[in-house]
Amino acid sequence: MSGITSVSQLKRMQGGLLRDDFPIFQTAGQDNALVYLDSGASAQKPQVVLDAVSDFYGAAYANIHRGVYYLSEEATRRYEGARKTVKTFINARHQKEIIFVRGTTEAINLLASTIGRQRLGQGDEILITHMEHHSNIVPWQLLCESTGAVLKVAPINDAGEVDMEAFAELLGPRTKLVSVAHVSNALGTINPVKEIVSMVHAMDVPVILDGAQAVPHLAVDVQELDCDFYVFSGHKLYGPTGIGVLYGKAELLEKMPPYEGGGDMIESVTFEKTTYAPLPARFEAGTPNIAGAIGLGAAIDYVQGIGFAAIEAHAYHLQIYGNELLGAIPGLRQIGTAREKATLFSFVLDGIHPHDVGTFLGAENVAVRTGHHCAQPVMERFQVPATTRASLGIYNTTADLDALGEAIGKLRKFFGK
Ligand code: ALA
Repeated sequence: MSGITSVSQLKRMQGGLLRDDFPIFQTAGQDNALVYLDSGASAQKPQVVLDAVSDFYGAAYANIHRGVYYLSEEATRRYEGARKTVKTFINARHQKEIIFVRGTTEAINLLASTIGRQRLGQGDEILITHMEHHSNIVPWQLLCESTGAVLKVAPINDAGEVDMEAFAELLGPRTKLVSVAHVSNALGTINPVKEIVSMVHAMDVPVILDGAQAVPHLAVDVQELDCDFYVFSGHKLYGPTGIGVLYGKAELLEKMPPYEGGGDMIESVTFEKTTYAPLPARFEAGTPNIAGAIGLGAAIDYVQGIGFAAIEAHAYHLQIYGNELLGAIPGLRQIGTAREKATLFSFVLDGIHPHDVGTFLGAENVAVRTGHHCAQPVMERFQVPATTRASLGIYNTTADLDALGEAIGKLRKFFGK
């Protein structure tokens, strides 16, 4: 993308003009009043994504890979086109390295059940960090329960950054797999994943990166990161729900056993012996979320049309603005103050429970998430029951942060602070 395009896209973002692309901001009764600060939970959808899904169902619907008639071929073309879009988006080497799944959670469960079972036995270790989402904790605990493997957790510091010395010390001869968030959903921390991958590879151990919160904010190049697996969800990337991606290096995916059995993942079936299809079909049993994949492809095209140069510059500006604004509010403490952060503000207010904060802000039409954000160990680490989290997307502007600040001001007054 040229510099000029980036600047004009950045101006569109800063002027809030991107909102015109998202029907939710035009919904009757909400007008422009909706202040949506919950993109970390799920992002709103641009019209182009709705159109891609609707056009598929209305004009090109059939099952894929099965028919030799026009509609089935067209559906297959669109579905496989989306795979190609994802491949280019994350710069994978091969299209077959892109496996469509339901989302990040399914991708990690798939890995736990396949490469996890292959590599981990009694006493072997899997290393994660203290800031992981439950979906990057519980699948490994389930695996440990059934194999006798041990889950090791690298600590984080008071800013919400991985303690890299402790991480290095926890890497040992029994470590067989490492799985780390690229960006924390509860703290916003951007982890030094390239450094982590090279440190872990020196021990000849594969690395999984959970990119659910990263792909909407950062340009991701899996070849440059050299991670073995990279997983993310479509719905946080302005795409539909129920679709996500598991990227894996072909040489590893090819050696893994299938996850689910069923149609499309086989080469031939007899009662005596079944052989499996090559990648990527081997990991896509049954009729997949065809419309979801097509919608995700449209979302990626949309995001790439804006370009990550503009997206990252816009996010940086919002980050500085938000830090200053929230920093000036008495009694507000941010949880997660890493040097490298996505546009996500997790905070607590003295003497006001986060659920009261969320309810009050909701009544002001400021949508935030309150709770433990599926990261209870993070709450325990910072000794808070929950936080309020404002997570921003490409359609947010400084005006949204101002609205958040004003609503918090009203709330503090209401609680006599
Ligand atoms: N994992 C999503 C979040 O962080 C739902 O809110």
